[in-house]
Amino acid sequence: MSFPKNFMWGGAIAANQAEGAWLEDGKKPNITDVMIGIGSKDPGLKWNEETGKWEMALDPDRKYLSHEGIDFYHRYKEDLALMAGMGFNAFRTSIAWGRIFPDGDEEEPNEAGLKFYEDLFDEMLRLGMEPVITLSHYETPLHLLTEYGGWSDRRLIEYWKRYVTVLFNRFKGKVKYWLTFNEVNNICRMPLPNGILSLDPAFRNNPADISEKERWQGYYNICVANAWTVKLCKEIDPDAKVGCMISSSSVATYPMNCDPENVLGAYNNARNISLFIADAFCKGIIPGYVKRIWREKNCTPEMVEEEIQLIKDYPVSFYSFSYYMSTVYDKNVSMKMHTGGAAGAKNPYLKETSPAPYNWPVDPTGIRYILNFLYDRYNIPMFIVENGIGLIEEPDENGEIHDEFRQRYIKEHLRNVHEAILDGVEVMGYLYWGPIDVVSAGTGEMKKRYGFVYVDRQNDGSGTLERSKKESYEFYKEIITSNGENLVKEWEKK
Ligand code: BG6
Repeated sequence: MSFPKNFMWGGAIAANQAEGAWLEDGKKPNITDVMIGIGSKDPGLKWNEETGKWEMALDPDRKYLSHEGIDFYHRYKEDLALMAGMGFNAFRTSIAWGRIFPDGDEEEPNEAGLKFYEDLFDEMLRLGMEPVITLSHYETPLHLLTEYGGWSDRRLIEYWKRYVTVLFNRFKGKVKYWLTFNEVNNICRMPLPNGILSLDPAFRNNPADISEKERWQGYYNICVANAWTVKLCKEIDPDAKVGCMISSSSVATYPMNCDPENVLGAYNNARNISLFIADAFCKGIIPGYVKRIWREKNCTPEMVEEEIQLIKDYPVSFYSFSYYMSTVYDKNVSMKMHTGGAAGAKNPYLKETSPAPYNWPVDPTGIRYILNFLYDRYNIPMFIVENGIGLIEEPDENGEIHDEFRQRYIKEHLRNVHEAILDGVEVMGYLYWGPIDVVSAGTGEMKKRYGFVYVDRQNDGSGTLERSKKESYEFYKEIITSNGENLVKEWEKK
């Protein structure tokens, strides 16, 4: 048994990490444009006492690599041709909201932004790639945060509806797969890149933090916006589908041992980090364990009865997710967070981690575990839209990069995806994260590279931006062109 016939093979990037051209053709800044890394504790924002508002305050001594990215905005044809060279039949990127509505609250969209994405999608289709499009990949227009506090203000629901309505009308028939908010569950641990900025005087020295009330009002408003997206898509382009995008590494939270407190703690960790919003998006309910937090922290959001019904009536059609690593819950060890997922106790059974300084534990079995777990919980098709490995790499004296670690990583993860398919899980596709080197979301640097294609751009901003193939390019191509058959044959022999 091989991979399904119509399996989507490809890769994923995001506008804010690749496009650059951060202020071109009418675009204004979005939230990640003022952050060097989404976990950043010192974003480029300052409270201005005189105006009584937050304003952009970039640090002149630091390099915001995302402002030029890898110049995908101008080089997308070359880049898509490289992806097509590997046989991609799907490619995921995001639309930078600020290219379409630069401030977010305008009445009319920016035609130059729409035209850019139209040309981009046409090129993908011409090359035989299904566009898989994220509506917001940490890209809420900055103005919506500084002026309204972002998603904790319900006016954003209206601005979002206007944004997605414009997109569904314009790209009807071209985009069949829409993802609403990238890693939307991170709203609770990283509210700023997810579009919430506190207007509470208590947080004026720390824009990365917010009150519990703002956090959960944001959660509720985003659940409503998600349901509206599904409804509007069904009305405007019934052939297209809307999925959620959840950072699901933490779904694979293992208990350290059979101490019942660790078992329960592991389960709660998966729910509190990943599933608390997936339950709302996929099952149409605000789960009881969330309402318990609201009661205990006295932070129940303001809700509207018709909107609770909307959330119930319009769940997403598929579950898309990122998976990078698993974690271990031990009641005596604190749980830290980074872009790849949660990091708790060390797992003594895992053989390796990615090389320093990242040290992400490598757990291919985890992807099979979560595919089964999530399919059992939601009963909708699963779509892996991020999985990959970030390494520090530079061409050798022959100009080559031999990335065996990456190849092994992919092989082992795909083996487990295949096992999950044999287990009966409906898997739509596998989109590798960062098929071409892009700026890292977590650290804002270039030197953490995921690509099959190397981009000559360095942390200090130098480099020719020239693209070249790494060894893994041919490796991934072979997998795709044989629809995974080459791997299946290899596994069968063992
Ligand atoms: C996910 C994000 O968290 O992980 C991507 O959706 C990101 O935007 C990816 O790039 C890998 O994280 P990092 O920090 O290594 O770039």
